[in-house]
Amino acid sequence: MHSKDLKVNPSVYLEGVRIGYSKNNPLVDIPRLEIFPGEIVAITGPSGVGKTTLVRTIAGLIKPISGIVRVFGSELPFKPTRGSVGYIPQRLGLVRHASVLHNVMLGARAGHSGPSRIFPTQQSKNSALDAIERMDLSEKMYEPVRRLSGGQQRRVATARAISQSPQIILADEFLSELDDKTMEKVQTEVIDYVRRKSATLILVEHDVSRAKSIADRMLVIDDGRVNPFISQTTALEVL
Ligand SMILES: Nc1ncnc2c1ncn2[C@@H]1O[C@H](COP(=O)(O)OP(=O)(O)OP(=O)(O)O)[C@@H](O)[C@H]1O
Ligand SMILES: [Mg+2]
Repeated sequence: MHSKDLKVNPSVYLEGVRIGYSKNNPLVDIPRLEIFPGEIVAITGPSGVGKTTLVRTIAGLIKPISGIVRVFGSELPFKPTRGSVGYIPQRLGLVRHASVLHNVMLGARAGHSGPSRIFPTQQSKNSALDAIERMDLSEKMYEPVRRLSGGQQRRVATARAISQSPQIILADEFLSELDDKTMEKVQTEVIDYVRRKSATLILVEHDVSRAKSIADRMLVIDDGRVNPFISQTTALEVL
């Protein structure tokens, strides 16, 4: 059963939204989009069509050209509860000279802030260590990120997002650069997290069959139009 049937409020709501970096060059129009707690939604479409731009818009990092974007009922520019949106960017945004632990702690502290801004709480430490373990990075914990492989760095970004204990995870190509076994592990850990917390997972995935195997629902951004529409479909209907 979909959470929609329970009349739960959407975690993400878009209406009449046009996204892009300039008014003169809009990328995608989204007439209406609701994503609910517990849902896993995959965004697919060709390179350069605007997938990352859509995710960054939902993250509140860029303003839509027009329309309404609400996250947990708050309209952009919103201040969602600190840490409630975990973002795994396509370009990872890690502090490259700092250790794995330091990077993951940045996420953990955003999600589990205590009374002190200087000292992390025990809860944030535990959350960081747990996420590092789940991403199979315990042996690399004190390594500077710049000395890690591409796939290991991607897992650091995933651990950083999970350690925040977010209610929404925005994951932009988070499975790229991973071998099959590691991909399976990372995918399982993230999906387990989402199911356990009834969180929302919005992932960008250019591999349609992989997206289908993960998602409850697909958003397909069409190419070949100036402002391609997003079409919604269930994962089973695609191809
Ligand atoms: N900061 C920016 N300023 C202006 N234009 C940008 C910016 N970032 C991206 N673009 C442009 O917006 C368009 C969509 O980019 P976006 O990164 O959203 O595509 P994408 O669908 O995620 O592609 P890919 O699958 O290659 O990651 C591209 O034409 C890109 O050149
Ligand atoms: Mg992208």
